[in-house]
Amino acid sequence: VGRIAVLTGGGDAPGLNAVIRAIVKTAVRQYGMEVIGFRDGFKGVMENNFYPLTEKEVSGILPRGGTILGTTNRDNPFHYQVAKGQFADRSDQCIETIKKHADVLIVIGGDGSLAIAHDLARKGLPVVGCPKTIDNDLAVGQAKTFGFDTAYAFATEALDRLHSTAESHHRVIVLEVMGRYAGHIALYSGLAGGADIILIPEIPFHYHKIAAKIQERLDHNKRFSLVVAAEGAKPVDGQMVVSKMIADSTDPVRLGGIGEVVAHKLEELTGIETRVTVLGHLQRGGSPTPLDRILATLYGAAAVDFVARGAFGQVVSLDEDQVVPIPLSEVAKGIRRVDAQGEMVLTAKKVGISFGD
Ligand code: F6P
Repeated sequence: VGRIAVLTGGGDAPGLNAVIRAIVKTAVRQYGMEVIGFRDGFKGVMENNFYPLTEKEVSGILPRGGTILGTTNRDNPFHYQVAKGQFADRSDQCIETIKKHADVLIVIGGDGSLAIAHDLARKGLPVVGCPKTIDNDLAVGQAKTFGFDTAYAFATEALDRLHSTAESHHRVIVLEVMGRYAGHIALYSGLAGGADIILIPEIPFHYHKIAAKIQERLDHNKRFSLVVAAEGAKPVDGQMVVSKMIADSTDPVRLGGIGEVVAHKLEELTGIETRVTVLGHLQRGGSPTPLDRILATLYGAAAVDFVARGAFGQVVSLDEDQVVPIPLSEVAKGIRRVDAQGEMVLTAKKVGISFGD
């Protein structure tokens, strides 16, 4: 292999730049390879938009959030928009462009980008995957994905800060964090930040049970409560909009996500003043934690090792601190959810955290 092409796909995550840096340094220093970077994920490939990535390009980017390559979660070459509302399979063009400029593609991405990488690999393109998501929900064995540590550290800090206001004002505060399909951020930050209630997609909750938890605290003179809700959390009855105030609202901004709905319902049920904070993209940006920088560097360097030994069609992962390959086909199969019977959930329950189940 003489030349590696790299792209970053899907949502940004802290550590993307650290991976790019590790790829370039390892490729240049260990193997004398060249690296090029496609801009804005697969969009750059479809538009033949790339530039050489030298050590100069990656100098100083280790602690920087975002991605110097740019990213997008649109532009799937297998379902490419050719005109407004019209899509076509342009994967052959995509493969042709990559092969023209490089010998192998490293895709740094989440479930969407790695599924595309898998489909390209099946069509014969040499591909190596590097797992990225703040959600920690990729099926890469036991390994954490980079970005997760930064995201839940930030959510934990948010809980610490919200504690002050909740306690001083005797309020319930609901913190809505990211996680459409998996509740890892909510679970980890809830445990680390001392939440009273954690709501995650894997454990459907009952409103009356979380209201009872708040009441139980009141009975013990705890006049405030903190709730962490993953954006994908669902009540058992599936009813999202439960408050008349929300249902009647004409302002679409008021029709918020699950955090807003839970806050209104809890105020109705408990009579305690309730507020909601939606963390949103704050938990995705900024400088990666030391752990995410290390993970990203391990993954980036390992991806180049995989390239050098021809281990294509694989995603780099870790088993303890050993780098291991996971077939792209495995990762593309589905996401990794929180184990509702696992040690983390059981521990949370032991210390009195309610999941509303
Ligand atoms: O997968 C990462 C993630 O941040 C999810 O947690 C969230 O649901 C989604 O992306 C948000 O996507 P976007 O930035 O495109 O709104």
